[in-house]
Amino acid sequence: MKKILVTGGLGFIGSHTVVELQNEGFEVLIIDNLSNSTLDVLDKITSITAIKPSYFNFDLKDKKAVQNFFSTNKIDGVIHFAASKAVGESVEKPLEYYENNISTLIYLLQEMKATNVLNFIFSSSCTVYGQADELPITENATVKPAESPYGNTKKMGEEIIKDTTKVSNIRAIALRYFNPIGSHESAKIGELPIGTPQNLIPFVTQTAAGIRKELSVFGNDYPTPDGTAIRDYIHVVDLAQAHIVALKRLIDAKNNSNFEVFNIGSGTGNSVLEIIHSFEKVTGKKLNYKFVERRLGDITAAYADTTIAKTELGWTAKLSLDDALLSAWKWQQTLK
Ligand code: WQD
Repeated sequence: MKKILVTGGLGFIGSHTVVELQNEGFEVLIIDNLSNSTLDVLDKITSITAIKPSYFNFDLKDKKAVQNFFSTNKIDGVIHFAASKAVGESVEKPLEYYENNISTLIYLLQEMKATNVLNFIFSSSCTVYGQADELPITENATVKPAESPYGNTKKMGEEIIKDTTKVSNIRAIALRYFNPIGSHESAKIGELPIGTPQNLIPFVTQTAAGIRKELSVFGNDYPTPDGTAIRDYIHVVDLAQAHIVALKRLIDAKNNSNFEVFNIGSGTGNSVLEIIHSFEKVTGKKLNYKFVERRLGDITAAYADTTIAKTELGWTAKLSLDDALLSAWKWQQTLK
């Protein structure tokens, strides 16, 4: 049984990917410092798959701990989620973001190189495109100057990995996520924002649950059909499955080059108002919302051209927006 290290495996996307890895017969080892997750997610994963992943509680900024992990665990691949990911927070705390997101990547790659671990999947983001010149966005779209330190760490991360693959046996795939939403059908794992949600869907579900008084829609003066910004919302289970397909591509050495990039999105753009109306339709809940100023750093529209993921990776999103929104609401209802 192939052993896969999942860093940040107790997080939102990480935990859903661990479930899919176990469903595919991989043995999973998780490193997570619980900075943006809780330990009970480990039990929730186990309750879904009946297989308890091995769990290691340490910070990837601890180089000695990373070295010790790789010298005592023989693994076949790494899926690297662990990183700070709040766009706004990264603007206020750039040094924390560069230290956390870059040093941890470097230590992981150093140990993979030293212990000859070949397969690496990197959690990247469509944020590297900024406001793309053309829609839908292909992998050849210009990678623009980052609008935030968070986005810059994804851009720099890809460059660091690419350079490392040139001087080692490591072969890597960067998956550029669009907007991950929803939760596993069991409603046992999902998005657990700490404090006031930055992202749209947790704010929507908390408003529907009466935790938040009303949703602020950041801008209705965008050059879009209904004036609100457009994004590509992808079900987190579809996103998790893309990681399995990418990992198998590397393990089976089917990659065309040692550094590949794939856009992972639904391929459909939806506006904030469309999200609100879809959520109200699938849940029967009425959402309180108001229009306010645009949020700094937001772009007008982004949605993926998923041709390469389909033809090269053999992956497409299968779950609908309604599936995702309903699963997000089911998950919210399990939270206290
Ligand atoms: C979506 C839309 C907001 C909240 C970012 C990162 C991306 C990834 C996902 C980490 C936008 C609007 C939001 C609210 C609103 N991050 N909105 N009211 O900004 O597209 O992407 O998060 O992996 O890398 O760039 O996601 O969910 O914050 O916003 O109107 O209370 O919803 O303006 O149009 P975003 P988001």
